Amino acid sequence: MWPKTAISERLGLAWPLIQAPMAAATTPALAAAVSEAGGLGSLGVTMLTAEQYRAEVAAARERTSRPLNVNFFVHPRPSPLPEATARMRERLRPYYEELGLGEVPEAAEPAPPFDEPRLQAVLETRPEVVSFHFGLPAPAMVAAIKAAGLQVWSSATTVAEARWLEAHGCDAIIAQGLEAGGHRGTFLGADPAAQAGTMALVPQIVDAVSVPVVAAGGITDGRGIAAALMLGAAAVQMGTAFLLCPETKIPPAHRERLRRATDDGTRLTTLYSGRPARGLVTRFMDELADLEGRTAPFPTQNALTGPLRTRSPAGRQTDFVAHWSGQAAALARELPAAELVRRLAEETEQVLREGR
Ligand SMILES: Cc1cc2nc3c(=O)[nH]c(=O)nc-3n(C[C@H](O)[C@H](O)[C@H](O)COP(=O)(O)O)c2cc1C
Repeated sequence: MWPKTAISERLGLAWPLIQAPMAAATTPALAAAVSEAGGLGSLGVTMLTAEQYRAEVAAARERTSRPLNVNFFVHPRPSPLPEATARMRERLRPYYEELGLGEVPEAAEPAPPFDEPRLQAVLETRPEVVSFHFGLPAPAMVAAIKAAGLQVWSSATTVAEARWLEAHGCDAIIAQGLEAGGHRGTFLGADPAAQAGTMALVPQIVDAVSVPVVAAGGITDGRGIAAALMLGAAAVQMGTAFLLCPETKIPPAHRERLRRATDDGTRLTTLYSGRPARGLVTRFMDELADLEGRTAPFPTQNALTGPLRTRSPAGRQTDFVAHWSGQAAALARELPAAELVRRLAEETEQVLREGR
């Protein structure tokens, strides 16, 4: 039997099972299908303007009145680092020539990740959970979201980050183990090489904080969900498991590589954005490996690699486009999201009942 947890009770979920917010990959159809099936559907909205955000949430709300989670990145403005930026532009130039993409873009000043217009849009649209990656926005913004009766969540990659998030008002903490696909949510500067996997991280964070803990990283089937619940998690957040759903919006090359994924096919890289993220290994990651950790700062590096990521021709995407993935991608199944949630619920039920 699935246990009732603080998160399933608080949000009225049939299963404490969260489809992870994944910037550019999640869709209203995906999030709504998961929420309708009894889990918590999430929208990765960090790259959207406030207007686009409103449209995305409205499209999900047309399909479901069940709870929704929306997710934003938060990070300080980058310091310029002109030397690292110039070195990176120099190393990127041959790739831009090879693909006929013109000049490497100049380092652009990024827009603030979570600003007043986005806050107002959140307060208007009232998603049940507002989650953040890379820490939290300004205390007044956190206070405004909580005062509106919405929950504030964020990711921790260490016990110190979990304690910081609890002290700054987080209602639940996502313990993101090293297996996780996509960006590490690290915001207190911990070295990824020293960070713990999900099995080690979740119980240590559960012991360190009093708010509910969501386990994330490498959880792809009922065995993983049951294990996370045994470690004390009040819910699981699964990203890679949902990447092969037809409702997910990823390029065909990414989908094709995920179908053939193996246990040893991913690596952490800073080369795409300037911060560590886990993805399927690409030629780009291999050839620039000597620049790991010496990129332009996040998210300036995103601007330098933008055309490579978004305009590489179909046949070259495997070489140049970031194909984010966790370490358990080989266990992901190609099923409609609602069917996947049902299978995950049944599998977990069986493991909890029969012990395997
Ligand atoms: C393609 C992809 C994109 C992601 N984008 C985000 C994001 O925008 N915000 C966020 O908080 N986490 C993001 N994540 C991380 C997930 O929230 C979660 O930590 C991770 O998927 C868990 O590991 P798993 O992929 O092994 O399930 C992303 C993960 C993937 C695979």
